[in-house]
Amino acid sequence: MPRVRPVIVVANWKMNTTPREAGDLAGRIAAATNEPDVVRVICPPFVGLHAVRDALAGTDVQLGVQNVHWEQAGAYTGEISAAMVAGLAGWAIVGHSERRRDQHETDERIGQKMRRCHETGIRPIFCVGEKLDERESGRAEQVVRSQVEAAFEALGPVEWPAHDDDATGGWLVVAYEPVWAIGTGRTARGSDAAEMAELIRETAGNAMPREQAAALPVLYGGSVTSATIGEFLAEPALDGALVGGASLKVDEMAGIVARAAVGARARKSAGPVS
Ligand code: 13P
Repeated sequence: MPRVRPVIVVANWKMNTTPREAGDLAGRIAAATNEPDVVRVICPPFVGLHAVRDALAGTDVQLGVQNVHWEQAGAYTGEISAAMVAGLAGWAIVGHSERRRDQHETDERIGQKMRRCHETGIRPIFCVGEKLDERESGRAEQVVRSQVEAAFEALGPVEWPAHDDDATGGWLVVAYEPVWAIGTGRTARGSDAAEMAELIRETAGNAMPREQAAALPVLYGGSVTSATIGEFLAEPALDGALVGGASLKVDEMAGIVARAAVGARARKSAGPVS
């Protein structure tokens, strides 16, 4: 069935906020972003999960984590698995470029993490994106295509949960985050990000049911603010944003989600995308 893709705004707080600060900030963001047409997810540091869960009780803002391990349990000192956070968080960012860079995460590990998420009913926010030299040398599309292909290969065959009308999309969400746009104040052009979103759906369609690939939500990430979000939401191929720095500011989140709500309502009145 053709469907309207949801509009999703995800806050990635990265390594910021103490548990007390996290609970306080989450409560204020929830109060300032009361837009049921927009799926809102907050991903605090692991130690802030309980405080944020308590602060979000009674709101429809959802909870996510910034990473999970590629195994569910074992001798991995200091690590946290999907099984440990299942029941607490409904979403997990996997394959963020900062982890690819600092923890040397490979596409294979990222696909395995997605599998662990699948086993535990967690929805991955799977990050892909090219580096500056890759874009400048004309290899951006090739890089992103191969990130998607390799992670899907490591994910292996899974049962793709059937789409229903729950307005939050299917199991998987992809975030296109060009590395050169993260934390730099430089954003991709909306049209370039939209082309990449279509390439991601097309590539995913080789590894998952085509109808579901067409309905795959693709977010843009990289220096998104209330001032820059509009360009991305104006693109029908893009379904929201993964927000870093600006997600730590209540006013910025209020502005981003308000703009996303306008897009979500326009989308609903325009009807299905595929
Ligand atoms: P910024 O919004 O700070 O550029 O970070 C983007 C990001 O990495 C979100 O995951």
